[in-house]
Amino acid sequence: MSGAERRPPSVSFETALRILRSTFHFEDVLQSSFKELPCYDDRHFYFEGRLIPTAQRRDADDGTAGKFERFVLRTSNLMFPAGLVEGLNALMLHLSSRGINCSRPIASRVGRYMEMIPGKKISQTGHYPQEYPVRVLQFVSGLLMSELDAECLTPTFLYSVGRFAGKVDAALQDFSHPAIEDFVNECWDLQHFSCLKRYISSLSEKKKIAMANSVMKLYEEKIEPMLPSMKKGVIHGDLNGKNIIVQQSENSAAIVGLIDFGDCVHSYYLFKLAILVAHR
Ligand SMILES: Nc1ncnc2c1ncn2[C@@H]1O[C@H](COP(=O)(O)OP(=O)(O)O)[C@@H](O)[C@H]1O
Ligand SMILES: [Mg+2]
Repeated sequence: MSGAERRPPSVSFETALRILRSTFHFEDVLQSSFKELPCYDDRHFYFEGRLIPTAQRRDADDGTAGKFERFVLRTSNLMFPAGLVEGLNALMLHLSSRGINCSRPIASRVGRYMEMIPGKKISQTGHYPQEYPVRVLQFVSGLLMSELDAECLTPTFLYSVGRFAGKVDAALQDFSHPAIEDFVNECWDLQHFSCLKRYISSLSEKKKIAMANSVMKLYEEKIEPMLPSMKKGVIHGDLNGKNIIVQQSENSAAIVGLIDFGDCVHSYYLFKLAILVAHR
């Protein structure tokens, strides 16, 4: 990354504690647990905290009040409109209501799933005040699928991954949100793949330029003409081993949950599948 910082600013434990106590319903947060998680666009922090057991919480029946649980404090990148962040929250709550264990949001004191916090934006010309969307998400416990021992990747397990992907699509069939439908994600939504053409010349090696051009040609000749006959809907958009949470016992594994909804788009189901098979 060059020049200006593209991601939201970092948050100290003291600031996080203040937000979690004043804006959300946390009565206690373990300082020793607070740590930044790796993240491409946003900035997020793992922490263990205890929610106040109040009947006024919009999500008070979720069984999390009163004991220490694992959460993620997530500040979002400003290139994602606030309406989109709200749409992604609605999507997680929808999936959750359909029995899919995912990183669903926790309501704030005033019953919102997203709040704004003051921060500083760093640009080429200096630092200036800026508000950032912040959310608290449930941490989905388990291993990342990408961390599984190779012997767990049996045909039966891989079949269960495909079934899980289908279950997520089925659960999203009756979900829609205007902000998700309107958002154009040129970089990551494969229906805009040809927009990436303008970046090919910035590759440094001739071999890579030739490879990128040939993939682009294949897409334009073989995939693009088929698209009008393909089915569309809201898809996860980044279904891969780092976003699927599993549990491993001995040489077998089972899927326990799903995270990272930042690339959810209204696109072709075909692409969801393409992304899944392209990753380990
Ligand atoms: N709610 C969550 N539950 C469990 N792990 C999480 C959660 N959120 C983030 N993580 C961890 O942080 C990593 C990066 O978060 P993610 O939302 O996938 O960001 P990125 O867009 O960079 O892939 C994940 O691969 C996972 O290890
Ligand atoms: Mg991820």
